[in-house]
Amino acid sequence: MKGIILAGGSGTRLHPITKSVTKQLLPVYDKPMIYYPLSVLMLAGIREIMIITCEDDLHSFEKLLDDGSELGLSIQYAIQKEPRGIAEAFIIAEDFIGESNVCLVLGDNLFYGTGLVNSLQRARSLGKGALVFGCFVSNPSEFGVVEIDDDENVLSIEEKPENPKSNYAVPGLYFYDNDVVEVAKCIEPSDRGELEITSVNNEYLKRGLLDIEVFSRGTAWMDMGNCKSLLNASVFVDAVQSRQGLYIACIEEIAYRMDYIDREQLKSLAGRMKNTEYGKYLQMIYETQ
Ligand code: DAU
Repeated sequence: MKGIILAGGSGTRLHPITKSVTKQLLPVYDKPMIYYPLSVLMLAGIREIMIITCEDDLHSFEKLLDDGSELGLSIQYAIQKEPRGIAEAFIIAEDFIGESNVCLVLGDNLFYGTGLVNSLQRARSLGKGALVFGCFVSNPSEFGVVEIDDDENVLSIEEKPENPKSNYAVPGLYFYDNDVVEVAKCIEPSDRGELEITSVNNEYLKRGLLDIEVFSRGTAWMDMGNCKSLLNASVFVDAVQSRQGLYIACIEEIAYRMDYIDREQLKSLAGRMKNTEYGKYLQMIYETQ
């Protein structure tokens, strides 16, 4: 399975912060935002990754992550010229996806919690169809909303409905079979002129191929798309890391624990950041694990 991180968009909900800096590189407590969705792909066992970004920001992402080889990954980059919708990612990445199944994660989404790794690894072995997640929220109208029956079959899925049929939001993490490229090419732009990811999911639903996993209460999902949620995410990461002494989305640690890199590579990565708490944490992992 291949992975895509969608990190384009205009970030207008964060202006003036994002007038000159791209949202997905803003700090979320102690690391750039994109580390959080990247860590999700890595934990799912996905090592071939494409980052889709705006032309102006491409170089900054390359500077941060290069070709991914230091983390045992293969990272490619592509440009989305205009924010024409989340589903355009599959059209842009068509050659990269090739014959594979694909996981898409939005560059401003954070996931953390019990059972997440198991869910991701199950999702990774998806055969035919699509898999999305459901997360109980107090403000479903701000998201894609999924209605499910008692057996967790999907009944409907709507984008930002005024009168949501449930409290289950669909987070920005989606698993698809290879047909998604063809599906994305066939959907019509919405009233706001975007190729909606919800339209892709609705097509899979129509074909009887949309599966859902509802996150348990122990799983935290945050969309970091506005000032308040960005601050909340930083506070959350600090609270968990300070209390547990274990980091969220430390991509070097994940690369090591997933056997993408060896101990010596971890030591070298830690050494380069030895003046920061982050580097000291990596050094601690090197010395104790
Ligand atoms: O966060 C989960 C939600 O993400 C889902 O529940 C919704 O169904 C889905 O439509 C999406 O809603 P948002 O309102 O958060 O979408 P937004 O337009 O903010 O885009 C999400 C991220 O994707 C954002 O970081 C920018 C990036 N993006 C978006 C579009 C439309 C792109 O890179 N290119 C695009 O064309």
